[in-house]
Amino acid sequence: MIEFRKSPLRAAIAGLGWSVGSRVLTNADLEKMVDTSDQWITERTGIKERRLVRDDEATSDLATEAALKALEDAGLQGRDVDVIVVATVTPDMLFPCTANIVQKNIGAKKAAAFDVLAGCSGFIYALDIGSRFLTSGSSEVVLVIGADTLSKITNYKDRSTCILFGDGAGSCVLVPSSDGRGVLATVLGSDGSGADYLKLPAGGSRLPATEYTVHNDLHYIQMDGQKVFEFAVKILVDASISALDACGLTADDISMVIPHQANLRIVEAARRRLNIPPEKVMVNLDRYGNMSSASVIVALAEARDSGRIGPGDAVLLVAFGAGLTWASATVRL
Ligand code: ACO
Repeated sequence: MIEFRKSPLRAAIAGLGWSVGSRVLTNADLEKMVDTSDQWITERTGIKERRLVRDDEATSDLATEAALKALEDAGLQGRDVDVIVVATVTPDMLFPCTANIVQKNIGAKKAAAFDVLAGCSGFIYALDIGSRFLTSGSSEVVLVIGADTLSKITNYKDRSTCILFGDGAGSCVLVPSSDGRGVLATVLGSDGSGADYLKLPAGGSRLPATEYTVHNDLHYIQMDGQKVFEFAVKILVDASISALDACGLTADDISMVIPHQANLRIVEAARRRLNIPPEKVMVNLDRYGNMSSASVIVALAEARDSGRIGPGDAVLLVAFGAGLTWASATVRL
């Protein structure tokens, strides 16, 4: 699905906030846990360390912190929020939604609240959905959050996955704007034939939690890394081009590309095919690893906080993930 927002009313980003786990897990730490090396991880992924939550923390804790920071950045409070959309693959519980818990934590008493699950593409899916509440005129303030604690579903005995993931949350406050700022175009897609390549097999209605599922490690992420890799490079390129074409921009018009932070080789391969200089691509996976739904929004917020992008800049967000899904968006800050 591709949409170009012809309406002069757009969803503009009024505030950004983010939070990552407080525990640092380095490649040297992983060398002590599984048969791997700093050299292998660095060369194959670009990741040097990740930030994990404590055992007593959950996704809603990071999401709440990110949401409060974004509200403060926008000069708003929880009571001003009309809608909360949380993208996550690691909700605190299967139900209620993590968005409901965030709503309580931030005192957003009048808000509608729900979760979106679209793998690592989740934040851009949520951005698309959230922005529609504004462009339709039905809402004034929408809080969009991407939050995940993949450490809770990672098998730290599986070297092919445990080196990749970290925990984080990012949030943006959306408000209506008619001055040219805001979400310019979005592209969402899915190919369910790839659903088996990346999954959490147990804990749902297909394989409810039993002694068997626990003993067979079925509550941990399972991934066919090579299949996902091939898909990722192609779809990052295609989705980027689609989002640019949809609003009549070219790569030269973009101040920064914010790709999903899965693997530096994936980002680099896509960057080269799109012919975009390295300084225009945001990379923070070396410090945080892959934070799934949080990766794109944390990278966007960090790029803004560090002064690499600012008001008036056009940015391209692009992601892929479990589903298999993909999503991209062009946004003028
Ligand atoms: N340390 C050392 N060796 C390793 C490790 C490790 N951590 N992991 C795998 N290896 C070995 C393999 O066993 C294999 O050994 P063999 O040749 O003797 O069989 C060898 O390294 C090569 O393995 P590959 O799987 O071919 O390695 P590859 O270069 O493909 O890198 C990786 C693996 C990093 C997982 C890569 O495929 C990748 O990044 N894929 C995309 C993953 C991704 O983006 N996932 C998104 C998930 S997010 C979400 O939605 C929750």
